[in-house]
Amino acid sequence: MNDEEKLRYMIVLAKSQISSEKDTLANISNLTAIIKACVDNLNWAGFYFLRGDELVLGPFQGLPACNRILPEKGVCGHAVKTGQVQMVPDVDLFPGHIACDDASKSELVIPIIKEGRTYGVLDLDSPRRERFTDLERDYFVKLVDLLNESIDWKKII
Ligand code: SME
Repeated sequence: MNDEEKLRYMIVLAKSQISSEKDTLANISNLTAIIKACVDNLNWAGFYFLRGDELVLGPFQGLPACNRILPEKGVCGHAVKTGQVQMVPDVDLFPGHIACDDASKSELVIPIIKEGRTYGVLDLDSPRRERFTDLERDYFVKLVDLLNESIDWKKII
């Protein structure tokens, strides 16, 4: 499969997961595994959820990571602050980047925003610089849109 076919397959597997299981934690746990299985060159893929004004670690694949991210800190905090997707080609050039895993060289963070409220982020790290493409960003935004359609994030935070 080429890169776009893998991304399409990721969406197919995500739909299948969500339609076959009602439990939110089970769904997002398996989603991190689906992402890791379908997308090459990721060393970390997972969720942080906004509890109060801090981001708290959720289900993920990869090495143990920071449990909490303070408001506006790091790439994840910046995504929450701005409400914008953050595609960082070189994390060493991002002021305030939080290095949970030294192997991470580039990062893609999608804010989870539903009906005007921010619930957290989907965070993807790669050991390669300039790893993420516009196409991947679009598919991960699509994935978060899909989750927003079916997941009640209030049950998680
Ligand atoms: N690098 C992130 C912190 C989370 S880890 O990558 C898992 C950041 O700067 O917000």
